[in-house]
Amino acid sequence: LDEKIWLFLSFGMIMIFMIFTGYQAVALEMGPPSHKETIDPQKVDQTAPFDNPGIKQIGENEYEVVMTLQIFSFTPMDIEVPAGSTVHFTLTSKDVTHGFQVANTNINAMVMPGHIQKISQKFDKPGKYLVLCNEYCGAGHQAMSTTITVK
Ligand code: CUA
Repeated sequence: LDEKIWLFLSFGMIMIFMIFTGYQAVALEMGPPSHKETIDPQKVDQTAPFDNPGIKQIGENEYEVVMTLQIFSFTPMDIEVPAGSTVHFTLTSKDVTHGFQVANTNINAMVMPGHIQKISQKFDKPGKYLVLCNEYCGAGHQAMSTTITVK
C-alpha cells in the first residue's frame, strides 16, 4: 500500500509541474503586448527583425527602418528617404541605454537594451536631419551620430 501512495504522489507532483509549466507558456504567449516587445540583448543579431537591420520600402510613401544602436554607432547609418515619406522606426540597443533624437522633429526617445522602441515619423521637408544619441553611453557618446537625408 505504501508503494502505491508514493507512486500516486510522485505522479501527482509531475502532473502539477506539467500543468504549471503549460500554464506559464500560455500566460506568456497571451500576455500583454509588452511581453513581446522585449528581446534578449545578448542575441540581437540573431533575433528578427534585428538580424537584418536596414531600410525597406513597405508602401508608396512608407518605409520601415530596423535599426540597432550600439557603442557608438547606429546600424544602418546615413539612411535616405524621399520627401513626404512616413518612416516607421523599430529600434533596440545591443549594449547600454542610448538615445535616439532627430533634429527638427519631435523624435526624442530612449533606446534600452532588452526593449523594442517603435516610432513613426513623416518627413516632409527635404534636408539632412542630424540623428544624435542623447543619453550618456560612455567615452564615445559625443561622437555617436548619423544622418537621415530627405530628398
Ligand atoms: Cu549612445 Cu550616448
